[in-house]
Amino acid sequence: MTGDLPTSELLTHGEKLLGWIAEYLQHPERFPVVSPVAPGEVRASLPAAPPESGESLERIIADFEQKILPGITHWNHPGFFAYFSISSSIPGILAELLIAALDVNAMLWKTSPAATELEQVAMDWLRQLLGMGEGWFGIINDTASISTMLALAAAREAKPELQIRARGMAGRSDLPVMRVYCSEHAHSSVDKGALALGFGLDNVVKIASDDEFRMRPGALAAAVRADRNAGMLPIACVATVGTTSTTSIDPVDEIAEICGIEEMWLHVDGSYGGVAAVSPRYRHVLRGVERADSLVVNPHKWLFTPIDCSAFYTRRPDVLKRAFSLVPEYLVTREQDEVVNLMDYGVQLGRRFRALKLWMVMRAFGADGLASRIERHCELARMFEHWVAADPDWELSAPVTFSLVCFRYAPSGLSEPERDRANAEILQRVNASGEVYLSHTKLNGVYVLRLAVGNIRTEERHVARAWELLREASVSYSSD
Ligand SMILES: Cc1ncc(COP(=O)(O)O)c(C=O)c1O
Repeated sequence: MTGDLPTSELLTHGEKLLGWIAEYLQHPERFPVVSPVAPGEVRASLPAAPPESGESLERIIADFEQKILPGITHWNHPGFFAYFSISSSIPGILAELLIAALDVNAMLWKTSPAATELEQVAMDWLRQLLGMGEGWFGIINDTASISTMLALAAAREAKPELQIRARGMAGRSDLPVMRVYCSEHAHSSVDKGALALGFGLDNVVKIASDDEFRMRPGALAAAVRADRNAGMLPIACVATVGTTSTTSIDPVDEIAEICGIEEMWLHVDGSYGGVAAVSPRYRHVLRGVERADSLVVNPHKWLFTPIDCSAFYTRRPDVLKRAFSLVPEYLVTREQDEVVNLMDYGVQLGRRFRALKLWMVMRAFGADGLASRIERHCELARMFEHWVAADPDWELSAPVTFSLVCFRYAPSGLSEPERDRANAEILQRVNASGEVYLSHTKLNGVYVLRLAVGNIRTEERHVARAWELLREASVSYSSD
């Protein structure tokens, strides 16, 4: 047999699957939020080799329900409070269907003009929603990790005298050691970017933070000075708006001042926290960003767009293009000097049509709808914060800036190591309930629990249930 399946199959199974999705989104709580399967269980339930001849979609979908679903951890569950809670939304899901149907590769303007131009429109709309001024060029990447790596590559290219593009770095005694700076609370993607680009992990300098987990600009200035005195070359600084452990906000304005003086590229990682600026109440979180060279925010984290969708902005697209543009004959097009060809701004050639989902999400919710959802999540987090603060056996571990609460069980009478053990065990028990999923981090060396509100379907009752489960687990742990 050749060719695709008949479109009647699409209609029959498409209708059924849409029904399944509607039911799933309406009642996600019928599934345990964390998959209870043991390592290897899903794999063992599946044939080791592919089928010799095609199978019916009915059978495949039945296996999806029976064998794959039990191994799914439900990020779209309203009780998902771990890491940064993300969620897709109905406009985003419908967009993904269209994206798959069109199967556009937006590598060149010519290979789908609307994909390139909609990406520019969507990125410009998002810029306006975030309250950012003009003068930014935006592209959509898969993840913030890749966006940050591109920023570091551009930072290096911003010093053309190094001739990295042509000559690389290996075996060159004429090159100084290049340094990248970020706070000790920056995401590990900064290290990975430095690793991929050959800066070396030892050259990612972790700047100390204050007691609210924000980078200390004075410590940054001192570190840069010391490195210069040692003959090294400061290349870039990554400031974070919404750090992963606590959502602290680095003082971007003051960091920008130092970057200006030291001629370093300033990249702002606002992957999670940056999107809060769609609410006028949180617009201030991007203060100072207008002085940065680049910024990343992730609509797939907290703007209800299905993963993946990472919005990368730079005020210096010419530098980014210089770092990556390379046009072999087979990719030459007539209009290449008049249009944006997205392949020029990164490593990848092939590119998904992600702009469609971001555009559909922004249109379906509007500026007001996005802002009110973000604000509601922050209110729910503050509610939880008050419950924790009011209970003498529990304590808050960091200021609540957005919709994340860091806290711990800390009854008097338990030593610090005992408290660490108690919190790890409480987390284990609460997550085993199947009703909620929280995660943890370490702050100042102690084990801390994290409750991140970010799912579009999370309501007060889900947050209240999490608090109830936590308290029950603490009581049962203490009486064991
Ligand atoms: C501050 C920050 N930056 C970067 C990332 C990495 O994001 P991505 O998964 O899009 O690479 C995260 C992930 O949580 C994050 O919290």
